[in-house]
Amino acid sequence: MNTPLLAPSLLAGNHANLAASLKVAEDAGVSWVHIDVMDGNFVPNISFGPQTVADLRGGSSLYFDTHLMIQDPDQFIESFANAGSDSITIHVEVAPNPVNTLQRIRQLGCKSGIVLNPPTDISEVLPYLELADLALVMTVNPGFGGQAFMEDQLPKIETLAKERDKRGLNFRIEVDGGVNTENWTRCRDAGADTFVAGTAFYKHPEKPSFRKLVESTHSPS
Ligand code: DX5
Ligand code: ZN
Repeated sequence: MNTPLLAPSLLAGNHANLAASLKVAEDAGVSWVHIDVMDGNFVPNISFGPQTVADLRGGSSLYFDTHLMIQDPDQFIESFANAGSDSITIHVEVAPNPVNTLQRIRQLGCKSGIVLNPPTDISEVLPYLELADLALVMTVNPGFGGQAFMEDQLPKIETLAKERDKRGLNFRIEVDGGVNTENWTRCRDAGADTFVAGTAFYKHPEKPSFRKLVESTHSPS
């Protein structure tokens, strides 16, 4: 069982002062931050590029969990690795050859991740689990923060947890989209160990309920 982790999503931070938003995450005691990269093509929104990651890297030792929501991940993985991403997660829907891409991410010295959108069947990612350090289940259609959590995606988490046990693997199971203090325990009970929270975190990083989530996800168990 991997140590549970909360990964605040910078997408919900202040884009004119991301360093301050990163500091909010640091001050909350987390060790990971989730960085959503959007290209206005694979998803209908634009967010950060490699330069953003490089500049943030200069002032932080947090683990940069980089989620590429872009049409051509192969074109950019090297830039994000060089910029200081710790993990790079690619969408199975747009990776023409996930085996090559996941191997390349590891060769570049990063942890590798594979992610699927809500309409995508879990069977699409199962062939690649041996090459992934992280499997991410989207619980919203990607593109925007602040959307409602899709409960019907929880069985995908259960399937990943079963496959991980069956094959003796230890990849992280991450959940992203609409995660909050109310639903994260259901994700955990399904088998998730890594919880992305954008809106819920940045709206109330200091609220006692969120502090409890941070502390509980970081307490050794
Ligand atoms: C959605 C992004 C998420 C987003 C989550 O496209 O991949 O990481 O930041 O934000 P919330 O927690 O607000 O749904
Ligand atoms: Zn994300």
